[in-house]
Amino acid sequence: MSGIRKPRVMSGMRPTGGLHIGHLVGVLTQWAQYCETAEAFFEIADLHAYTTGFKDPQAIRAAREEMVAVWLAAGVDPTKATIYLQSGVPEIGELEALLAMMVPVSWLERVPTYKGQIDALGGEIATYGFLGYPLLQLCDIAVVRGERVPVGRDQVAHLEFGREVVRRFNFLYGEGRDVLIEPQPTLSEFPEVLGTDGRKMSKSYDNAILIADDEETTTKKVRSMVTDPQKIRRGDPGRPEICPLFALWKFVNPLRVDIVAATCRSGELGCVQDKTEFADALNEYLRPVRERLAAYRRDRAGVTQIIEEGTQHVRGIASGVLRDVKRAMKLL
Ligand code: TRP
Repeated sequence: MSGIRKPRVMSGMRPTGGLHIGHLVGVLTQWAQYCETAEAFFEIADLHAYTTGFKDPQAIRAAREEMVAVWLAAGVDPTKATIYLQSGVPEIGELEALLAMMVPVSWLERVPTYKGQIDALGGEIATYGFLGYPLLQLCDIAVVRGERVPVGRDQVAHLEFGREVVRRFNFLYGEGRDVLIEPQPTLSEFPEVLGTDGRKMSKSYDNAILIADDEETTTKKVRSMVTDPQKIRRGDPGRPEICPLFALWKFVNPLRVDIVAATCRSGELGCVQDKTEFADALNEYLRPVRERLAAYRRDRAGVTQIIEEGTQHVRGIASGVLRDVKRAMKLL
């Protein structure tokens, strides 16, 4: 039976707290599916969080179990996927130090997020560690021999950089063999989820509907959402295609999409009524996730144990990869 090997999928998230419905529909539902179709590895990228958040270690520490509780509540299956802590796998850091010997600084400087994030967050984050962010990310993937990496569009440049490093490593040390494999990004098919103000949903814009919000807060946030600015009152014809709220109906209840679009266009459906109905539908959609989240929060020790077991499992794989790398570099 079987014989067909499942692809190895690896992805990670920085523990910064405040996972929102954009994470749920864009990332976590996909991760949950990979639990069935792939050999999946999901990492708490706490070291990556330090590259920009090094002044607030307590926030990073507080976010990690909570973030995993949300993953589990969203359907990521810990009996099928390996969930682990980046800083608990020292092989990742050791690999980074080895690969750093052959990575030109100019390659790192030209990754667009480097200058982009410094412009956005200030020169204080222009550290040695932050410059190495995409190299650390490649090492995350390489130590588990990740083949596919589900990520957002903003991460594609990191993967492209990582693939170049792999090619250079194999060229320099492989002696005709591929010691490391080139990881492929897999883009989520979901469009970006918009926040209450119509910009990309993001905790830092303060426009996010959080998975962990209570129902009342969710309703309040939905009521504050921007809609078509030309639709002032009920009766005015609306344009669902430019309405951030309408875009969310597709996830929450696809069966309602056509009727909402038609009645919004005709003017029959007013934004106030639409928001009331949508808030109810969203709360209903999130209810089972929130119930599971509450259960995982009560069982923090169970969550910690899942992370510890996953981390030990990854260490076993990573030490083998590191040995191959050291042999190729004639260190062993
Ligand atoms: N940099 C990724 C992000 O900000 C998080 C991440 C860390 C990651 N390590 C990874 C994603 C490895 C994929 C693979 O979204």
